[in-house]
Amino acid sequence: MSETNLLTQLEDMQQKALQAVSAIEDEAALQAWRTAHLGRSAPVMQVFSNLPKVEKELRPQVGQRANQIKQALEAAFTERSEAIKQTSLQRALTQAALDVTLPGRRPVHGRLHPTTQILREMVAIFAEMGFQVFLSPDVETDDLNFGLLNIPPYHPARDMWDTFHAATPGVVLRTHTSPGQIHAMRAYAPEPVRVVLPGMCYRYEQTSVRSDMQFQQVEVLAVGQHITFADMKGTLEGFARRLFGNNVQIRLRPSYFPFTEPSGEMDVECFLCGGKGCVICKGSGWLEIMGCGMVHPTVLRNGGYDPEQFSGFAAGIGPGRVAMLRYHIEDIRYFWANDVRFLEQF
Ligand code: PHE
Repeated sequence: MSETNLLTQLEDMQQKALQAVSAIEDEAALQAWRTAHLGRSAPVMQVFSNLPKVEKELRPQVGQRANQIKQALEAAFTERSEAIKQTSLQRALTQAALDVTLPGRRPVHGRLHPTTQILREMVAIFAEMGFQVFLSPDVETDDLNFGLLNIPPYHPARDMWDTFHAATPGVVLRTHTSPGQIHAMRAYAPEPVRVVLPGMCYRYEQTSVRSDMQFQQVEVLAVGQHITFADMKGTLEGFARRLFGNNVQIRLRPSYFPFTEPSGEMDVECFLCGGKGCVICKGSGWLEIMGCGMVHPTVLRNGGYDPEQFSGFAAGIGPGRVAMLRYHIEDIRYFWANDVRFLEQF
């Protein structure tokens, strides 16, 4: 290859490169152009590395020209790059102009869990009857969850509550909100008490359509002088009527709890079968929503009251069961399965 030829080639290279760059419209293509024309294996760069092979007399001329071309290409790159930035800015300003007349996008609202909604509704009904909210811990001692509630160790009644035990002996996840009765009584004694204790309970048991291993409960406790079974019945029935309406069948039937005497359970007509009997109501036609009873004298004493002078009633109500009745939900496990398609409906 003759050196004059090399010079013509250099001119040619420059012309082609400049022509190519003037047609480029976007940043990516411009970067590709830079690699092709100014990168390590670009033709101009090759001329530099081959310079030692060029005839001695012509070497300065070729070198100088190649340098000028390289500078010209670099200048063209900067210029084009500026131009592209300007155009895209212009485009952004005109195309994505803020149109204040467009309707806004509605933000997605979070909401309360269905059983929390019901729980709050229940608490509000009791609040109107003069009950205050009293919070007590989810993690309890064996003594508060059982012993002080008149369920001594090895008593067969313990079979009613399958329990999660902590690694620390004597520490359990509460199986019901009833230990809160002791906390509340000890906080108020010898004054009268009228409280509701909402919270989560945990049971180490087989789940089914109507019972899960984790569920909320609202404990109700009233302690004072001259409180009778009639007060309990009136309060709980009034509450159920407020919650379900006057037309729903409700019944109070005798039951057994170690911490109440006498004890009862309140049932509401099964929503699914309307009382005929089905899987949800275990064939009975009724769905249990609460356990209740007159506070046992031993429990009153453990709470700091003299059972000769004081009496009271207590109840434990499940908002999950109430929500099932209200919304016709056929499996209580949906509540904690964490499927948003289910939860978004409420
Ligand atoms: N703690 C009982 C349960 O979870 C319910 C209950 C509460 C019964 C208060 C009577 C009085 O099964």
